[in-house]
Amino acid sequence: MRLTVVGSGVMGRGIAYTALINGYFVNLIDINEKALKDAEIEINKLVQKAESRGLLVKVSEEDMKNRISYSTNLEKDVVTSDFIIEAVTEKIHIKKFVFETIDKFAPSHCILATNTSTMSPTEIGSYTKRPDKVIAMHFFNPVHKMKLVEIVRGLETSDETVSKVIEVAKCMNKETVVVNEFPGFVTSRISALIGNEAFYMLQEGVATPEEIDKAIKLGLNFPMGPFELGDLVGLDARLNNLEYLHKTLGEKYRPSPLLVKYVKAGRLGRKTGKGVYDYSNEEVKI
Ligand SMILES: NC(=O)c1ccc[n+]([C@@H]2O[C@H](COP(=O)([O-])OP(=O)(O)OC[C@H]3O[C@@H](n4cnc5c(N)ncnc54)[C@H](O)[C@@H]3O)[C@@H](O)[C@H]2O)c1
Repeated sequence: MRLTVVGSGVMGRGIAYTALINGYFVNLIDINEKALKDAEIEINKLVQKAESRGLLVKVSEEDMKNRISYSTNLEKDVVTSDFIIEAVTEKIHIKKFVFETIDKFAPSHCILATNTSTMSPTEIGSYTKRPDKVIAMHFFNPVHKMKLVEIVRGLETSDETVSKVIEVAKCMNKETVVVNEFPGFVTSRISALIGNEAFYMLQEGVATPEEIDKAIKLGLNFPMGPFELGDLVGLDARLNNLEYLHKTLGEKYRPSPLLVKYVKAGRLGRKTGKGVYDYSNEEVKI
């Protein structure tokens, strides 16, 4: 089966790598050549690392490189796809453009999944002529390490599409939950609230980021503190989620002004070398 991932940022490259090592032929597409090149370098590093640890049981490192292609041509490269996972920027006008385009060029049997963290698969499905084949397939960061895929069906999503998506997620070695559509689903709704509250606390001078993270990890038994997680997810991605949830669910999701300020300053987290914490002297860990 040929699987296409659209968007080669933090999530797209992780989804492409996870599909690749689990036996799929993968196309990775982005409009930004630099993002695509960075994704290729990162995926090659991950493949080498997995090979050196003896984890690539199904195929060799060389075969692996031949089974993935990188492209900036969305129209041309979705033509042979059987399954598409969209992981472009969390802005509805960008998702609309991407879904309208892939619907025009992808074969009629092809399922169109969105990795949106918050948005409506029903609305995204309405941009296509195949809403029965549109669904949210929400992966987590880092994709190859996180066990869950949260599956969200839209109003018109068929049972057949849900079954197929569960099957693909299982082939990618993931556990699934199927939830009903509502902004933020289960995970993003809770995560956005906690992350935002931590920023309000920082803004109010309640404690330092280190103290807040330590309190949440050791006191509440979370594996990561809210700032560690925010820096990993990307503060811009976190802000996009909050803006959408604020618009759809109301006041309690109003983004903290301090978070907005960090994003304006370009402090987006690990991906830019600085977020709440400074990573400039740290080797990037994959
Ligand atoms: N970051 C996370 O931890 C996380 C977790 C789960 C889900 N998500 C969701 O995954 C999606 C992607 O998030 P991300 O963090 O990887 O973002 P990102 O900013 O790292 O990457 C987005 C990529 O999309 C590309 N893009 C933009 N417009 C495009 C187009 N028209 N065609 C092709 N590519 C295009 C950009 O060039 C960029 O490389 C979002 O919907 C986000 O909500 C993110």
